[in-house]
Amino acid sequence: MKYDCIVIGAGPGGYVAAIRAAQLGLKTACIEKRETLGGTCLNVGCIPSKALLHSSELYSRIQHEAAANGISVKGTSIDFKAMMARKEGVVAGFTKGIEGLFKKNKVDWIQGAARLKSPHEVEAGGNVYEAGAIILATGSEPISLPFLPFDEKKVLSSTGALALSSIPKKLLVIGAGVIGVELGSVYQRIGSEVVFIEFLDRICPAFDSALSKGLLKSLSSQGMQFHLSHKVVKGDVSKGVSLTVEGEGKETVFTGDAVLVAVGRKPYSDGLGLDALGIQKDPKGFVQIDAAFRTSQPHIFAIGDLVEGPMLAHKASEEGIAVAELIAGHRPLIDYLSIPNVAYTHPEAAGVGLTEEEAKARGIPYKAAQFPFKANSRARCTGDDAGFVKMLAEEKSRKLIGIHILGAHASELIAEASLAIARRLTADELGDACHAHPTLAEALKEAALSLFKAPIHL
Ligand code: NAI
Repeated sequence: MKYDCIVIGAGPGGYVAAIRAAQLGLKTACIEKRETLGGTCLNVGCIPSKALLHSSELYSRIQHEAAANGISVKGTSIDFKAMMARKEGVVAGFTKGIEGLFKKNKVDWIQGAARLKSPHEVEAGGNVYEAGAIILATGSEPISLPFLPFDEKKVLSSTGALALSSIPKKLLVIGAGVIGVELGSVYQRIGSEVVFIEFLDRICPAFDSALSKGLLKSLSSQGMQFHLSHKVVKGDVSKGVSLTVEGEGKETVFTGDAVLVAVGRKPYSDGLGLDALGIQKDPKGFVQIDAAFRTSQPHIFAIGDLVEGPMLAHKASEEGIAVAELIAGHRPLIDYLSIPNVAYTHPEAAGVGLTEEEAKARGIPYKAAQFPFKANSRARCTGDDAGFVKMLAEEKSRKLIGIHILGAHASELIAEASLAIARRLTADELGDACHAHPTLAEALKEAALSLFKAPIHL
């Protein structure tokens, strides 16, 4: 069979690229080795974790907020099996949904592990397919520690942590990045004692340090324990889990029932046959591409977690759309500065544009201002008033260069911030825009006004 475009991998990079290519009139197939579409994000990542974050947050809110709202609730308990079944239902609904989108857009879904047989031939499931263009979108996999291989029972990757059959009494978490704090939050809320061991002196290092600090304070007050600037050097899983950890000038042994290793992810291209075609990778395994996503084979493109940049589903999707449009002869542009980063903790953390550390490192003369949710009426009504909006603007042009939110619904509020950064709005332009009252979004307006004018409610 001959296609204009073959996409390898059906995650949010690949399946979106395939749909866009088909929309643009290219005869397209998407090859996926999993039995379901959607990749890591949908099957074992963003979506199941958000389903569990929702269930566990609901439980936690009933326990901790019902009384203050005049609601008396007796006898709450967790049915972990039902919670997991709900999560699986959410995932199954979406995987079927993508199948439907493929049908609607006439994308052929080929099941099997793909291998590049020659520059224009892809082998999968015993068949060979010919392609004018090929998009590599095989994503990434969790990084393991050499002395602690994943068994997904006691030594968990994010995949294992999303599929446990019981709630661990004590969960150790190596790495307080986004995966660590999200899944750590789930288990802490439903009863686990959760202890983090983080190499750096802060959590969630990709965020502005004000968000990292504020989040650390909130998560600690919820009962999660953090050991920063600590390094795990040995692991023993013969009886429970026991980790030897270096920090504060000494060695300590931490014990638990299970350990989640969340120390990052690495690009995944096993078995693709890249070397034989001379497709270059960097020492970390990222496929090397030019500004138009072309590998060293100009008709073979790579996107998403497989290439440098933040490992985010929405970044992969943007790249998927851009590559499909390039192949179809369009000239798309991706504005990397306006790609947001979110942690779905409580409170949520979200940032877009430059962090204050990045602005400093680039020598940009900037002004920074913060507006607290405690001074926002909607946040006070809900009682969810932790956190703040922080904004950075170039001193002279007053253009916004970074917006960082710690607070309830930050994941949703960041959309306005992304648009402001994408359109290169000034602080005054955002501050002058009318925001409905009472809404959390008013905190964005107030933070913008705080930069060069003055906030009203502070
Ligand atoms: P990460 O890079 O966010 O965090 C890993 C953490 O582990 C870092 O803080 C790092 O300092 C620490 N670390 C590394 N080696 C260590 C060691 N030996 N001992 C102790 N600490 C160590 O990676 P994470 O959380 O695994 O996530 C992987 C990718 O997936 C990230 O790029 C993340 O952005 C993405 N992701 C995004 C989500 C979202 O958008 N909400 C959700 C989950 C993941």
